[in-house]
This record gives sequence, C-alpha cells and structure tokens, in this order.
Amino acid sequence: MLLIASLIFAACGTKPAEPAAPAAGEQPAAEGDIIIGGILPMTGAIATFGQSSKKGVDLLVEQVNAQGGVLGRKVVFVAEDTKSTQADSATAIQKLIQQDKVVAVVGEVASSNSLAAGPIAQDAKVPMVSGSSTNPAVTEVGDYIFRAAFIDPFQGAVMANFASKDLKAVKAAIMTDANSDYSIGLGNVFKEVFTANGGSIVSEVSFVSGDTDFNTILTTVKNAKPDVVFVPSYYDTVGLILNQAKNNVGFPAEVKFLGGDGWDSPALFELAGDAADGHYFSNHYSPDVDSPEVKAFIDAYQAKYNEVPDALAALAYDAANMILKGIEKAGTTEGPALRDAIAAIELNAVTGKIKLNEKRDPVKSAVVIIVEDQKQKYFTTVNP
Ligand code: PHE
Repeated sequence: MLLIASLIFAACGTKPAEPAAPAAGEQPAAEGDIIIGGILPMTGAIATFGQSSKKGVDLLVEQVNAQGGVLGRKVVFVAEDTKSTQADSATAIQKLIQQDKVVAVVGEVASSNSLAAGPIAQDAKVPMVSGSSTNPAVTEVGDYIFRAAFIDPFQGAVMANFASKDLKAVKAAIMTDANSDYSIGLGNVFKEVFTANGGSIVSEVSFVSGDTDFNTILTTVKNAKPDVVFVPSYYDTVGLILNQAKNNVGFPAEVKFLGGDGWDSPALFELAGDAADGHYFSNHYSPDVDSPEVKAFIDAYQAKYNEVPDALAALAYDAANMILKGIEKAGTTEGPALRDAIAAIELNAVTGKIKLNEKRDPVKSAVVIIVEDQKQKYFTTVNP
C-alpha cells in the first residue's frame, strides 16, 4: 500500500497545477510585431515537455529581439496550453490562428497532438513547425507542416541495431502505449529492424497513458525471458514501468530496458528513482556533446534559467529558429512565401544540421543516452 501511495504521489508531483504566468517584461503584441504561436503541453501527462519547449522558444525570442528583431520588427511569442490532449491541441491552434493572427506555430510535442493540430494549420496556410514530433505522418499532413526532429523509422532502427549489435540481444519484448501514434509507430520500427537483424520478439504488451499499475504486464514480459525490453513511451509511464520492473516484479539487472526520446524528462528520475539506472534511450541532443552551437545554447539557457536544457528545449529553440530565419529569408510573413522559405532552410542548429528533405523532415544524427546515478550520460552518436 505504502509503495502504491508513494508512486501515485510521485506521479502527481510531476504535474504542476497551473501553466507558468507570463514572465515579467513579456509584453502583449503591438501593431507591427511579428506574432509566433506555440501549442505546447504546459500541463497534463507530459507537462515537462511543454515547459522545456516554452523556455527554449522564449530564450530565442529574447536573443532575436535584443538584436533588433526580424525584418526590423519585434517578435512576440504566444504559447497556448494543449493540456497534453488532442482536443485541446486543435482548439489551441484554432485560437492562435483566428484570434491572435499568428504567422506560424511551434508545436506540438507529442505526435498524436501534432496530427490533431496539423490539418488546421494546413487549411489556414499557416506554417507549423514541430520541434519534437517524430512520427512520419506528422509532416505528411501537408506542405505547411515541418519539423526540427529526425523521424521514428531512423530512431527505431538506431535502438534495434543498438540492441542487436552493441548489447548482442536476440530476444526482445515490446511494451507500447496503445493511444499514442508515436509509441505504436516506434514499436513497429523496432520490431521490423530487430527481427531483420535475426532477433525474435518474445512478448508484446500494451497499456495507455494514465495507467499506474504495470505489475501484470511486466510479469508477462518477465516470464518470456527477454534480453531487452523496448518501451517507446513518455516519461510519465516509463518512470513507473522502470520502478515497478525493478522493485515489484524483480527484473534481473542484466535485462536492459530501452526507449526513445520520450524518456527525456527530469521527472523520469522522480518516478523511477535508481530503477532507471543502467538502461538506454535514443535522443536528439546531449549537453555532453561538444559543439559551438550546443555550448552557446547551454550557456545562454543556464544564464536565463539556471538549469541545463533538455532535448525538448533545444528542439523548440531550433524549430522557432527555422521560422524566424524563414521570415528573414522570405522578407515577409505571408503564408506561401514563408512556407517556401522554411522548406529551403539550412541551419547549423543546436540539435545538429537542419536541411529538410522533400518530405519536410531533417536528416540528422541521434545520440544514445545511458542512465547512470539517475542522470543522463552521453553514450554514443549514430549517424543516418
Ligand atoms: N518524439 C515524441 C513524439 O513524437 C516527442 C518527444 C520528443 C518527446 C523529444 C521527448 C523528447 O511524440
């Protein structure tokens, strides 16, 4: 009972009651300002994703305005809370386009939410750039939809090859969130590549976001005796799964849990404690990687927020930069011209070089992270 109570408490602890109030100095848009919208999960199941993303965009806007803005105009960022749901993502982007008259939108984070918002941006001819949605279908919505992240066919292959080649795994289990396009898509890619490598899938189970008791499905998975367990889900469920796998179900330490970018949150360690140690996930960026872009970003972010930025902050910074650089190049904020300018963007971004292919997806490297002492540690880089 005590354990369950403390887990529920931990889960609630990651959900702030209210979105952050506008910081002092943030001003409402005036005539002539360039207004960029944001649809971000500031509250709800994956709130750390939205909060980090907003910090990333706020930092960029501050830097750009300090340099005189874009086309000589001040940039204003208006972020709407999607509450981590599809319905609110659609309402949020509608409000930004109709009421705030934004010229472009950053977001959403979760692929399912970007899929809900994308058609609205496409119909209105307002470019939408997701920093972090990795499901291929997101940009397939139309030619006004872009992203700053690599896509899941790459990310899934990175982790399947890591399992087969680096960990020498031959038996894998897969645990997916049945309500998440991201989770289902990434799980499928892992399965395809891992079996093509000669491995076999010994157990497949599913759950949904909001579940808190994973003991039964974890027991099923453990009984199948996998070498690795792939959990392509977000930190809110992954944190509890890792905790219960170690502390309730007694997984042997040599069974490695693997995941994707959805693990990236400080809240993962609040939920999992030391049960996350020794496991691996793929990500877009690591603060441990030495590049001039990463260093400049970390220095500025730390000066403003006194914390080390996660991948969400870096990706949202890059996505907003694609929009602002696009406006500069187009010389206008008008939809079709801005769309064409973003499609042609070439940027040495924080998360790597961004140059979009004909599907409006960048082709970029991934990093593999290992968790050690409840911290992320850079393990290796995998190039496309
Ligand atoms: N890639 C995830 C999705 O498409 C979102 C995500 C990106 C989460 C990066 C964490 C870090 O749903």
